[in-house]
Amino acid sequence: MAARPNWLLRNHKIFEKHTFILLVGILVVVAIGGLIEIVPLFYLKNTIEKVEGMRPYTPLELAGQSIYVREGCNVCHSQMIRPLRDEVERYGHYSLAAESMYDHPFQWGSKRTGPDLARVGGKYSDEWQKQHLIDPRSLVPESIMPPYAFLEGRTLDLSNISADLKALKLEGVPYTRAMVETAADDARAQAGMDLDAQTLQDGYSALAGRKGSVTIRDFDGEPGEPSEMDALIAYLQMLGTLVDFKTYEAGDLQNQR
Ligand code: HEC
Repeated sequence: MAARPNWLLRNHKIFEKHTFILLVGILVVVAIGGLIEIVPLFYLKNTIEKVEGMRPYTPLELAGQSIYVREGCNVCHSQMIRPLRDEVERYGHYSLAAESMYDHPFQWGSKRTGPDLARVGGKYSDEWQKQHLIDPRSLVPESIMPPYAFLEGRTLDLSNISADLKALKLEGVPYTRAMVETAADDARAQAGMDLDAQTLQDGYSALAGRKGSVTIRDFDGEPGEPSEMDALIAYLQMLGTLVDFKTYEAGDLQNQR
């Protein structure tokens, strides 16, 4: 007498004979994996640890980031230092998730025609950055980076900067209403125009939890209304400088968990 096929085999026929039931079956199986990944995100308040020193971009830096994206700098430069020895030795401490928590869109990238820029802030002087953007080959003869000299003569368009901050606020970036309102003048003040920079400094330093978080100076060395050069250099010079790694003992970051 032939052995009776077991229950599973007997009933599997149902799936094999009816495409629709098979489809529903597939959906149920796939959904289990999906739900396990997605559901926790709804009740976890935060998936990123807060790190002292992190704050949202100031209006001038944000305008600089927009120019960075507009000019396609992200096509050749990544902004994420991987936790691998060669990267850490070349670029500095590996990037933390919190360091890009206010980036919309994030600039991680995996294509490096040029070096990673996650910690380029403070590596060179403003003059170097300006000269390098005007004519990269005048400083690095073998460079294949294109020149961006036109940024110098272009007055920064600040007509939409408040709206930009407002949009980011909707996405959860903790700008205050006052910051949104004064964004254009805050950008001018940061670029060294003779305006009140104290509110700017106090407001953003409070978000950072650290004093003197905002660098205020004339980044492109040209007085008057900020140029696109001012904004881009302000952005480059703050990259990777917000978290003070000297205050963390070795291994401290792991221990915080
Ligand atoms: C075609 C690819 C390419 C594009 C686009 C590009 N770069 Fe570069 N960049 C490079 C290369 C290659 C280097 C390395 C040689 C050098 O220093 O010029 C470099 C170097 C740099 C450096 C110096 C980094 C260091 O640590 O020495 C900075 C800063 C920089 N680029 C900023 C920018 C900005 C800002 C933009 C957009 C306005 C931009 N780059 C667009 C290729 C590019």
